[in-house]
Amino acid sequence: MYRNSLTEMRDLEIEEIMDILDLATQFKANVKGHTEIASGLLMASLFLEPSTRTRGSFEAAMKRLGGDTITTTDFKSSSMEKGETLNDSIRIWGNYCDLIVLRHQESGAPRVAANISSVPIMNAGDGRNEHPTQALCDLLTLKEEFGTLEGLNIAICGDLRNGRTVHSLAYGLLLLGNPVTFVPGNGLDLNDTTKKTLCDNFGVVLSELPPSQVRYSDLFEGNHEAKAYRLHKPTPDFDEYAYNGKKLDIDLRPVALYFTRCQTERGSDTKEAGYPKVNQNNLETEFFSKAVVMHPLPRLDEVSVALDDHPRSRYFQQAANGVPIRMALICLMLGLKAWSSVTSQ
Ligand code: NCD
Repeated sequence: MYRNSLTEMRDLEIEEIMDILDLATQFKANVKGHTEIASGLLMASLFLEPSTRTRGSFEAAMKRLGGDTITTTDFKSSSMEKGETLNDSIRIWGNYCDLIVLRHQESGAPRVAANISSVPIMNAGDGRNEHPTQALCDLLTLKEEFGTLEGLNIAICGDLRNGRTVHSLAYGLLLLGNPVTFVPGNGLDLNDTTKKTLCDNFGVVLSELPPSQVRYSDLFEGNHEAKAYRLHKPTPDFDEYAYNGKKLDIDLRPVALYFTRCQTERGSDTKEAGYPKVNQNNLETEFFSKAVVMHPLPRLDEVSVALDDHPRSRYFQQAANGVPIRMALICLMLGLKAWSSVTSQ
């Protein structure tokens, strides 16, 4: 943990992720129950950008734990509209509460806040940077589905450039040793610095996936040839695959397709066409026959509403996991439950 705060995925060790998922699983068994474990404690939710799931589930989590919340739901109703700095706001709010949950339009704001805050800060999404608590909801959903968080081939599709959930989930999956496949919308790829940081951090390499052997083009309308690539540990067979185009003896079919919305408010644009979307037809093809469908929500039209009751849809489960995940985080970060590892203290 960074100063007892969760600002980015890199604040978490693998053991800490497992502690959070294990405790969330315990809470999930009785998620509509009520405890008094956080009785007398106050959480401030400072949401300076719109939110449905993250704020709702954080506040529900705190109240289910017997604590209470104070809220700012938009920038204009706070003194930041008058020119107050983030630093001053955080100092003030720290006097009023025991924990601050911060959603901010600027990348890095939670880290700045954690440096001056007298109480723990939780990043509820900062600009185009990260959304670590969403990644924990995603990881819990994957663990529930597959019983493990190892050896999973997840394809992350859509706005990789500006989608903050993408950055946190990719980090988490690579930290846990998984290869990750990326399928960007046209012009919406991860930026080069992010790719290099991931490769350097995790000792992975990037291999382009030839469209003739993987079927990601089926997620695009028209004759768009999808760009797809994979970050993975260097292996001789994969290098051969990438560089000689030979057929490889490993299953490249994804076990989950993780879609994201085009972040128009951060300058992303789909007018150029070429944005991956899933519907009943392409989900039933052989290449996607094993894949569950995920999305952090809100969705636009990336995931057809016709899939809402499909046996492989998992996006509402991800959203439901928001409450137990945030109950676990609140308890661990406020010391109401113990971490199993000592690294966090
Ligand atoms: C995401 C976000 O705010 O980054 N939503 C969420 O918290 N589940 C995704 C998005 O806005 O596209």
